[in-house]
Amino acid sequence: MKEQIMMDNTQIPDTKKQPSSKARKRHLKVNEINYSNNLESDYTEKIEALEKSFDYASNSTCYWSKPELSIFYGTPLYQGASESQKLALNHLYWGAHYDHTAASEANTIHYNQVTAGVFSQISDDYEALCLNLKHEAEQEKYHIHAFHNIGYKTKTALLGKRVMRMKLNNNSRYNKSGKLPEIVKSRLGSSNFQYNSLRYLSKVMLSSETYRYSQYLQDFDKKGESLTALTKGYVGGSIPQTLVQFFTFCWGSSPFLACQYYAYRYAGNAVLKNYEYEYSEYFRKLEKDSKCTSVPPAVSHYHFLDESFHTTTSQIIARDMYKDFGKPTTSEKVIANLIFYLMQRGFLGGIASSLIGSFRDESSLMPLYYRILRSPVFDMSAQDALHWMEKCLCHEHEGFHLQTKYHQRAMKNIGQLASSLDYLWPINREMRIMASGGSISKAIESNVKALKQFSQIAVV
Ligand SMILES: [Fe+2]
Ligand SMILES: [Fe+2]
Repeated sequence: MKEQIMMDNTQIPDTKKQPSSKARKRHLKVNEINYSNNLESDYTEKIEALEKSFDYASNSTCYWSKPELSIFYGTPLYQGASESQKLALNHLYWGAHYDHTAASEANTIHYNQVTAGVFSQISDDYEALCLNLKHEAEQEKYHIHAFHNIGYKTKTALLGKRVMRMKLNNNSRYNKSGKLPEIVKSRLGSSNFQYNSLRYLSKVMLSSETYRYSQYLQDFDKKGESLTALTKGYVGGSIPQTLVQFFTFCWGSSPFLACQYYAYRYAGNAVLKNYEYEYSEYFRKLEKDSKCTSVPPAVSHYHFLDESFHTTTSQIIARDMYKDFGKPTTSEKVIANLIFYLMQRGFLGGIASSLIGSFRDESSLMPLYYRILRSPVFDMSAQDALHWMEKCLCHEHEGFHLQTKYHQRAMKNIGQLASSLDYLWPINREMRIMASGGSISKAIESNVKALKQFSQIAVV
């Protein structure tokens, strides 16, 4: 096996198929234009000003989006809910999605630096790209702050602190207002052996010719710190931690894989855009009709505009720029395909019954649903809350059917990029895992099992 890997890594690059320097220059130029457009925009500043003006009471009387963007929409619970409960579910939907978005953007801050640390070592031509990635990371800090602050105020007002403090699993406590997530480091200690082994494995597997160990990762090494894997967001919440650590070394060592990370990031952009576009449309219509608008849909609208630059960055790097580094080795292809496969399975491979636009395993949302039902919004007993969760999560209803439409729309968008990536295996290029995850009966089957487990820990 080792011999095979070594042989693959020393293969002679196929010079006939190398990209022309003209194509490379064009990719860099498109990035420069995108970066300059992003710098000229003022959407981040608008988000910051909106966030500062937010208090829940003054935003609590209007819908923040069309009703289908509400938790439990299309379920029997929603059908029997009062108007004030429906309004609360509409507001809590915003908080739930942007809680995950904030965690995902913490992933982006980290991986922009990991990959920029690779690109910066290739040549000075990549300076604008690295500056763009740095600028995006700065923007994400403001976005995260706004999402946490608005989400926390909303959840505190609706759910109450007692319910928010319920500890229902290892990851289910809420962040305090506006607090940035802990950056991912720890002193090198007992995990030293595993950490160094993973780094060594990535080094052995990747081509020595193109190996560029990220400056960002080198800085951690110099300080005697190791990276502990993120456990939430589009990367950390979807891939087992040890593998995330290994993939971090891969994305942070090989120019081809550094580019491949942006195919993953593009999927994250597409899932966000799938529902954020609806907020943006809703906000634009209210503005056009000169109607009063609430702060959260305005934040979503400006975030949608800010993120359009980030989506363009992901697309340029994932679809075009990876070709500028020659053909990937067999090892690089295997790693890229494994990452794409796990992404499909963990991040895109399901349909949530009660949160339109979420394609993760619904067990991660059960603590939230339970809190809502136990909070003053519904004021249910533990038994009633579990009874209604069973009715909403484990039986077919309108919400599931609407969800499959959102799932298909996201799949079409991500599939357009995947179909153009020549290094992907058919299971990835044709998005087969995501497609099979769009099944209502599969989602119900998985919810039945997960709810049984959840019921054993959900008390008081
Ligand atoms: Fe963002
Ligand atoms: Fe972003």
